[in-house]
Amino acid sequence: MENLQLRTFADYKKAYKKSTKDPEAFWEGIADTFTWQKKWDKTLEWDFEKPEVKWFQGGKLNITENCLDRHLEKLGNKTAIIWEPNDPDEESRYISYRQLFVKVSRFANVLKNNGIKKGDRVCLYMPMIPELAIAMLACARIGAVHSIVFAGFSSAAIARRINDSECKMLITANEVYRGAKKVNLKEICDKALEETPSIESVIVYRRTVEPTAMKDGRDKFWFDELQKAEKDCPAEEMDAEDMLFILYTSGSTGKPKGMVHTVGGYMVGTTYTFQNVFQLEKDDVYWCTADIGWITGHSYIIYGPLASGATTVMFEGVPSYPDYGRFWEICEKLKVTHFYTAPTAIRSLAKQPLKFVERHDLSSLKVLGSVGEPINEEAWHWYNDNIGKGNCPVVDTWWQTETGGIMISPLAGITPTRPTFATLPLPGVQPVLMDEQGEEIPHTNEPVEGRLAIKFPWPSIARTIYGDHDRYKEVYFSTFKGKYFTGDGAYRDASGNYRITGRVDDIVIVSGHNLGTAAIENAIDEHEAVVESAVVGYPHEVKGNALYAYVILYNDIEPSEELIKEIREIVANTVGPIAKPEKIQFVSGLPKTRSGKIMRRILRKIASKDTENLGDTSTLLNPEIVDEIMADFKA
Ligand code: WT7
Repeated sequence: MENLQLRTFADYKKAYKKSTKDPEAFWEGIADTFTWQKKWDKTLEWDFEKPEVKWFQGGKLNITENCLDRHLEKLGNKTAIIWEPNDPDEESRYISYRQLFVKVSRFANVLKNNGIKKGDRVCLYMPMIPELAIAMLACARIGAVHSIVFAGFSSAAIARRINDSECKMLITANEVYRGAKKVNLKEICDKALEETPSIESVIVYRRTVEPTAMKDGRDKFWFDELQKAEKDCPAEEMDAEDMLFILYTSGSTGKPKGMVHTVGGYMVGTTYTFQNVFQLEKDDVYWCTADIGWITGHSYIIYGPLASGATTVMFEGVPSYPDYGRFWEICEKLKVTHFYTAPTAIRSLAKQPLKFVERHDLSSLKVLGSVGEPINEEAWHWYNDNIGKGNCPVVDTWWQTETGGIMISPLAGITPTRPTFATLPLPGVQPVLMDEQGEEIPHTNEPVEGRLAIKFPWPSIARTIYGDHDRYKEVYFSTFKGKYFTGDGAYRDASGNYRITGRVDDIVIVSGHNLGTAAIENAIDEHEAVVESAVVGYPHEVKGNALYAYVILYNDIEPSEELIKEIREIVANTVGPIAKPEKIQFVSGLPKTRSGKIMRRILRKIASKDTENLGDTSTLLNPEIVDEIMADFKA
């Protein structure tokens, strides 16, 4: 394993130049440092109009050989995963690379014993425990495709995702601790399983001693299955372009998009970006607070860090339990050097008395990271001053589920940081800003604003939407011909630093969670009293954005608090509790264009209390509705 870290700003500039002049040679040099069973024949084949992207074709590898086997000789005893439980009185677990290798191999045989083969899809709905990491790596070991569903999602959301990719197996836990609460995951799964004909078996990890209802012939305990499994499991030979995993993300229609990532490019991309953005040294302890159910956890708790031979922390709990000092307590206890979290967490912790920070020794910290949404100036400074004590570079990392890895970010200690700016593109990333006419805005010394697109493929780009390549084309490659459209707006300063300004489509980022408003509207519309609804985001102090729902009721229905509760409940049950609208306003109509499209721009402005300039409303089908909605606005 070679170190891929750039060391100086000059190194960065040189690498960036090379990566745009000759991207293939650039990525070949990096890919060469990995373990391949067979070297690739063709570095890159691409066409953003088709669209199609293939990296390292003909190459054979297994990502787990790169995350585990290749470290055994030199780093076998090094800690791969430190697990910190929800309850601070329960013991942490330290798992070395060798132990992880053994556990993964054995569980891979459990998968095989239960009929899972290369290419089969396996759904994981699990708490943040090491067994989640073990299960995902075990899938990768045998070439099964994992589809991890965040363990805060509802039964309906699980069922929908399982059915979309026809998963054969579901792996879950009986219960999960989340702060002072205990949630019965198995019950949620059982409800989902009523509607998932493709599932043949369910493996249940016992996180608690509570009795668990098991269905004969289908449900098996993790531990029992392990007893029956062989120890050794050779790594399946995978093609670089074979699927590694599917991860669902919200779309602007109600249906989630199953983003497909492939083995070779994803490995190369996440590992390179991990090492360069975070700049770990040999004995550092890296902690990303995300859940593995999101892309951040896939790329920067598991694959990137493990392929780099790093020590990665997994935390089961929440930042507020047993009190708001938990993150800082863990940093002190584990001597965390690299801490990567989301702006929403920073804002909610910044609201607490500073004593929660001050009572802990944070001197081990070297680098701080932020991801998930734009970080506002105030939160940036609070983080930098109180957590980093002004000594830790803050890397604001912009990327997406679709990009697989970090795209725009400072490299810690190497390239300059600037509050609220994700700054410069990583080597290999070619961002462009597009104007209203869909033309590329040239790079000059003028600050400019536009829609953010990428004009050249990078190795970890998602290859398709599972089962729906047309939608992949439509969503990402049809807005600007020959370019990948991110859905984000951005500002670029005179030195080429990017600041991401937010989504320009119907996705809202709430507390760092990517939510499609259409899915929430569909849920609300399921209520029998509801005719139609429109959901928009508005700025929120802690969550970044919160959701505001405008709801039309049937004529004979009286608005009530009870209805508001029911609507929120429906959303929680169909999409998940994180999608519950903060505010619900009953309206008699929604502003529509003559072709019947809801004018969300106007609704967004009203919800954001930004009504000075609503733009021209006269072209609406029903302009009078705007005044009515404004008059009843829920502050
Ligand atoms: C969207 C992608 C990438 C992992 C977490 C979210 C927003 C993400 C930043 C940032 C400003 C950001 C964008 C992006 N976003 N990071 N550093 N600054 N905005 O992944 O759920 O796929 O969401 O999150 O709007 O498009 P995701």
